[in-house]
Amino acid sequence: MSRRTSETIRQIQGVPFPERIVKYWTRVEQFQASEEDLLIATYPKSGTTWIQEVVDLILNDGDVDKCKRAPTQVRMPFLEMTAADGSNAGITKLETMDPPRVIKTHLPIQLLPRSFENAGCKVIYVARNPKDSVVSFYHFDRMNLRQPEPGPWKQYLERFMKGQLVWGSWFDHVKGYWRERHKRKIHYMFFEDMKEDPAREVTRTAQFLGRQLSESTIDHIVQMTTFSVMRENPMANYSTLPDTIFDRTASQFMRKGEVGDWKNHFSAEENAAFDEHYQKKMEDCPLPIRFTI
Ligand code: A3P
Repeated sequence: MSRRTSETIRQIQGVPFPERIVKYWTRVEQFQASEEDLLIATYPKSGTTWIQEVVDLILNDGDVDKCKRAPTQVRMPFLEMTAADGSNAGITKLETMDPPRVIKTHLPIQLLPRSFENAGCKVIYVARNPKDSVVSFYHFDRMNLRQPEPGPWKQYLERFMKGQLVWGSWFDHVKGYWRERHKRKIHYMFFEDMKEDPAREVTRTAQFLGRQLSESTIDHIVQMTTFSVMRENPMANYSTLPDTIFDRTASQFMRKGEVGDWKNHFSAEENAAFDEHYQKKMEDCPLPIRFTI
């Protein structure tokens, strides 16, 4: 018998979500953010955990021991996440914490609780090229027993292109935050830039957070947040989640961490269809997305 939960997908303002999130949505909508809170927003599988670790290290002046005080999801709760019975909710954890809090979300910008904008919170947004994002999402859904069975890759890719996966359309997500970046305090980053020049990106992020760090602290943060170091860090690799949630025989959370792994998954035909679709969807918003570095 499958250990996977067969949860219905429902929509909030046209965006698909697991039913459990829709069920407790009012609590999310009414969340009261404080001006000092920091929001880390991403489309799923865009390097959220990576930037979370970078941010925690910046805020703790590179002190690795302090950043090992608890697993990622405890240090920086996941705003909209909840178990099916409403327990273990991100909101509940956040309500026990005093600002400044660092909050993770995958919500598209139009669904963020109003209080984030009203309070003028800083936001860090990370975009990752959609080909690598969908490959990562596919493998994640193979292992995440709380997500619906991903099914065959070809159909999965089609659903991604149509915005039918949970948390909705990658295209709308990245464009939504991009268009608001000058109106709200949004530091817009790219996964590919972090891979290419992590020291530059850590420096820029620290500046955005108003932190002065020495060059050696920046280098230390870069070293502590490489893929290989984070993969071995139990407080940053989700190894604390039980096997009833993550089936690690199917895939790993810290899987490859590369740019361009999509080339191992997309057929020539799928790639051509994707490129055509991408051109159409992105022509009204020329975002500097890179598929290789
Ligand atoms: P892959 O599946 O391509 O390996 P998120 O945290 O948003 O769920 O994103 C997960 C993706 O980010 C996974 O991609 C994971 O391996 C990658 N990742 C996590 N930490 C990383 C790091 N320090 N460096 C590079 N990639 C990292």
